[in-house]
Amino acid sequence: MTSVLRDIRLHRGLERILIDEETLRRRVDALGEEISTFYADGEPLLIGVLTGGFVFMSDLARSMSIPLSVDFMAVSSYGDAANTSGVVRIMKDLDRTVEGRRILIVEDIIDSGLTLNYLIDVLQRRKPADIRLVALLKKDRPRTVDVAVDWVGFEIPDEFVVGYGLDYAGKFRNLPFIAICSPDFIRDE
Ligand code: IMP
Ligand code: MG
Repeated sequence: MTSVLRDIRLHRGLERILIDEETLRRRVDALGEEISTFYADGEPLLIGVLTGGFVFMSDLARSMSIPLSVDFMAVSSYGDAANTSGVVRIMKDLDRTVEGRRILIVEDIIDSGLTLNYLIDVLQRRKPADIRLVALLKKDRPRTVDVAVDWVGFEIPDEFVVGYGLDYAGKFRNLPFIAICSPDFIRDE
């Protein structure tokens, strides 16, 4: 059965596909392999950043070939709007302690860098063995804060994107590709 989700013409508000399903799959698999090699001598705790990171987390975890654990945090920096407020709040904290653990933060996208910067700060104070970062996407724009990302899936233009976990006003998260949201759509909503 052909999924209606896969036909971009059926989604009002989307401009074009930026990264298709196959390209995502291949890149995430390659990241999984690379990261598995890095953690060959110490089991990592993957910390997914909700909600946008849930699809990437799920595919990345399954593309890794080593034992690992998974936990999630939810932070809010956006509300429903497409512009960052700079204010970050923890909406859901981790279920377990991270002291002495090797942690890998799994984030959907780095835009201003504010969210990750805040998260790293919070987690660092809990004394993990080390902290690494993987982001599926990184926008090509002057950053508000600089974050040291260890692995990036794709560098993308400074546009608002949705799909593969990413939303606009709660929508589009289940699209199997990453698409550019049309600026008119964001403005008119
Ligand atoms: P920051 O500006 O780097 O702090 O990004 C904060 C969060 O905003 C990201 O984790 C995403 O959840 C969300 N975000 C930033 N850019 C986009 C986008 O283009 N599409 C959807 N969500 C975005
Ligand atoms: Mg996010």
